[in-house]
Amino acid sequence: MRTPGKEKIRMGMVGGGEGAFIGAVHRHAAALDGQIELVCGAFSRDAGNNQRTGEDLCLDPARVYSSWQDLLQQEAALPAEKRMQLLVVVTPNQLHVPISRAAIAAGFHVFCEKPAGVTLAETQQLAVELIASNVLYGLAHTYLGYPMVWQAKELVQNGTLGTIRKIFVEYPQGWLTDDLESSQNKQASWRTDPAQAGASGCMADIGTHAFGMAEFISGQHITELCAELKSHVPGRRLDDDGAALFRTDGGASGVLMASQICAGEENALKIRIYGDKGGLEWHQMEPNTLVVKPHGAPVQVLRAGAGQPGLGAEASRRCRLPAGHPEGYLEAMGNLYRDFASAIRAGERGTPTGVPGIKAGMRGMAFIETVSSSQHSNEKWLSVPAID
Ligand SMILES: NC(=O)c1ccc[n+]([C@@H]2O[C@H](COP(=O)([O-])OP(=O)(O)OC[C@H]3O[C@@H](n4cnc5c(N)ncnc54)[C@H](O)[C@@H]3O)[C@@H](O)[C@H]2O)c1
Repeated sequence: MRTPGKEKIRMGMVGGGEGAFIGAVHRHAAALDGQIELVCGAFSRDAGNNQRTGEDLCLDPARVYSSWQDLLQQEAALPAEKRMQLLVVVTPNQLHVPISRAAIAAGFHVFCEKPAGVTLAETQQLAVELIASNVLYGLAHTYLGYPMVWQAKELVQNGTLGTIRKIFVEYPQGWLTDDLESSQNKQASWRTDPAQAGASGCMADIGTHAFGMAEFISGQHITELCAELKSHVPGRRLDDDGAALFRTDGGASGVLMASQICAGEENALKIRIYGDKGGLEWHQMEPNTLVVKPHGAPVQVLRAGAGQPGLGAEASRRCRLPAGHPEGYLEAMGNLYRDFASAIRAGERGTPTGVPGIKAGMRGMAFIETVSSSQHSNEKWLSVPAID
């Protein structure tokens, strides 16, 4: 029996139809803690796909809508106790801001995939509207839900590494080594189409993850950069590879690399940060291990797990299982959902505690625009627009 007064949070989804990637990840992750229930969706522009997806998910057919506009309008007209509360946006990038703005205007909380949009200007407009609203907006930077990423942040914050001097962050993938977009691969097609992905391919898709992680763990902002982007596959319309040297407002320097043509690589996101007292290293594909390298002392290996020694409060509360039972990508996304659900119940507004929000979204867009400008500029260093 449900505790009186405590109901599941009602979630809707735009995108994530049959054959899509990240929508299913969101559904699994949202269900992990039993706090959230999917009640409606507009999963695809293809009517058959949309209907089949709704059937597979055992949804009420009346709440499987033919468009996201229809979804917002009809859900808003339902009684408050039935109506969706949180909308998840898992479409290609060009729809992120239009859907998020309309959802916020209709009074729904939004959890949107990254990047926040296709231009910095449109995400700034979204931020203005969010501030004037009563709702929450979260950005699905999945990797910022991992316990050991929070532990790394704590090691920087508590001075274990000393003054931060150097940041290396890289995200190599290999799946766009070939011209997949010509063979009707859905994920490749929109990611290499400027009308759907925006001004950048690889940097918008995964460079933003690397950028967000470097800023999140270091607690510093990247203020200047010098980038080169490249498209290696003949005929490809957007970058599939790139790198940037950067400087931070805390006096550190760094290198960011993102590439989708590193044949054989999977999702090899990796970060190393060095201060004057020591360094740390974390790999997304081995997410339960954090290597700490004190200067002049033996290397330490910290491991995720409920009750593990050596972990701070933020990392510990993101571990669900005893050490040695691997937790990964779904649980990391689940941690963002758990915090989002708590923020809704607590009546928070703006950015949910523990979840990246619109500022992270605008910073990501500022990064994408600056690396794209740098590619075409003869100036060595370009400033990344400040977001306050
Ligand atoms: N956080 C992460 O780790 C992560 C990982 C992968 C993708 N993403 C992001 O998620 C988003 C989706 O990526 P994906 O790989 O799942 O793409 P995908 O092509 O697999 O899925 C996109 C879905 O959106 C649907 N769609 C498109 N237009 C629509 C519309 N007007 N109405 C309803 N549905 C519509 C498509 O039918 C499809 O189901 C992108 O913005 C991407 O950057 C994030």
